[in-house]
Amino acid sequence: MEYKTLAKNFKIPVIGLGTFGIGGFVKTDFSKDEKSIKAIKNAIELGYSHIDTAELYGAGHTEELIGNAIKDLDRSKIIITSKVFKTNLMYDNVIASCKKSLEKLKTNFIDIYLVHAPNPEIPLEETMRALDYLIEQKLVKFIGVSNFSVEQMKDAQKYSRNKIVANQIPYNLATRNKCHISNCLNMESEIIPYCQENDIMIMAYRPIERGFLLKPNPLLDNLSEKYGKTKAQIAINWLVSKKNIITISKSTNIEHLKENLGSIGWSLSQEDKKLLDETRFESPGL
Ligand SMILES: NC(=O)c1ccc[n+]([C@@H]2O[C@H](COP(=O)([O-])OP(=O)(O)OC[C@H]3O[C@@H](n4cnc5c(N)ncnc54)[C@H](OP(=O)(O)O)[C@@H]3O)[C@@H](O)[C@H]2O)c1
Repeated sequence: MEYKTLAKNFKIPVIGLGTFGIGGFVKTDFSKDEKSIKAIKNAIELGYSHIDTAELYGAGHTEELIGNAIKDLDRSKIIITSKVFKTNLMYDNVIASCKKSLEKLKTNFIDIYLVHAPNPEIPLEETMRALDYLIEQKLVKFIGVSNFSVEQMKDAQKYSRNKIVANQIPYNLATRNKCHISNCLNMESEIIPYCQENDIMIMAYRPIERGFLLKPNPLLDNLSEKYGKTKAQIAINWLVSKKNIITISKSTNIEHLKENLGSIGWSLSQEDKKLLDETRFESPGL
């Protein structure tokens, strides 16, 4: 595994495990529990040590499955990112959400706790005060945001005594500057440069755009042949070759988990990176 430095010398792997859909998307699905726990354990055995989740996923069940998968493991070797949903951003609700997540995850701390998405209906000052409290109480180690624009990141930082260490955004070869989330427009021209200049880690989610980047594509097909790597590996390598970008990719399939880890340990040439940077890929109707 390769690592980047999040803050205070805290190392984070460049590829983490996404969990959206494990145990359900926004509703609970109990039908594959055993398989899901096994898949998370497999991923950890293969070398994934950063697990990304959220209270939203599987309506809480995803965190329960992760809790079951990690309960007998050395917690200090696993990094958990979780997120408070945008309807729970009032001071008391943030704290209650975090405590519920801790219980489900069967742990006494969350490494990185993110605001899942901004909510203009709730004063951000209140949310950030609650996150500061969670750090003070040692219930979370680091705080960050997700789907935040530059202005929203600046506001979040203004209201918190602790550093915003990460912004999780839907960045990949296909999305670039356009996105279904209005706050995440201008990722490439604004959000990423701002994070790079201000020591904020970009957690790029949907690295293969949920499989969209695996469809026939002349450039990716060529590069795949040239490097002897799959298109998923090219897409992930391109992402994590960039300053301050790590990614989280979801899979419960052991072959895909291995394949995605094979995205690192080698490099695209400068010319091919530039070619990818300059190519506008088809987007999945964003
Ligand atoms: N902050 C946010 O608002 C937000 C929003 C969305 C997602 N996220 C996080 O980001 C994570 C990743 O995003 P995502 O799950 O939406 O999309 P993704 O990682 O781009 O794609 C996941 C899909 O691709 C398949 N897959 C993975 N590796 C593959 C490979 N090598 N070959 C073929 N298929 C492959 C997976 O199926 P198999 O399981 O069968 O491999 C799954 O269906 C999420 O799980 C979640 O943790 C955050």
